[in-house]
Amino acid sequence: MKVSTSIMCVDFGRMAQDLALLNEFTDAYHWDIMDGHYVPNLALNLDMIASLRDDLKQPIHAHLMVTRPQDYVQQLLELGVEEITFHLDTVNAQFFRLRNLIKDAGRKIGIVLNPVERPADLEYIIDELDSITVMTVDPGFAGQPFIQGMVKKIAQLQDLKQRKGYTYEIEVDGGVNQRTLAMLMEAGAERFVLGSSGLFNLGSTLEESIAIARSYIPFKQG
Ligand code: DX5
Ligand code: ZN
Repeated sequence: MKVSTSIMCVDFGRMAQDLALLNEFTDAYHWDIMDGHYVPNLALNLDMIASLRDDLKQPIHAHLMVTRPQDYVQQLLELGVEEITFHLDTVNAQFFRLRNLIKDAGRKIGIVLNPVERPADLEYIIDELDSITVMTVDPGFAGQPFIQGMVKKIAQLQDLKQRKGYTYEIEVDGGVNQRTLAMLMEAGAERFVLGSSGLFNLGSTLEESIAIARSYIPFKQG
């Protein structure tokens, strides 16, 4: 079980101090990249990560909410990201080209399923995946309400993994918090993206927020 902290939720006025704290807490950094076209929002650009790169002491997973993901892959690989996750509907005609690029660089590839998408849509690529992210909100914004119907999708993916021996890690992204975590762990999720409701909005300081997060995340206590 791992947590992956959403960098887009960090306080940019306190970035250096906050990252020093987060490096001791998180297992990975979740880097949301948005183009304002695939989703009606913009998030972190590649220069920002380049400037933060040396302060990020845990692996970076880039979540591409962009219409043309192929435009970002080479730069992300050069920035040293460990994993790149693509929305299924953006790689329809290029999945294996992107997979080859990423695997040749010794990195990991994941697919992100939007709330409307089905695990069955992954049939011909599922054994290529290092991770499958189940969006529990529509992509594009932090702080959105959790979509309860996604829990059974997580259970389906965990059941499929066990029955077929697949090796993908099941990630949940959106509205992971004190109310939803136990249910998500029970359903079989293995990597939890922590954003506003799961971490940053918990306390009046990040130290406080991390202490509260440690209190409700069983595998992050102590
Ligand atoms: C939304 C992003 C999420 C978001 C999570 O499009 O993919 O990573 O930052 O934030 P919360 O946990 O607040 O929903
Ligand atoms: Zn995300």
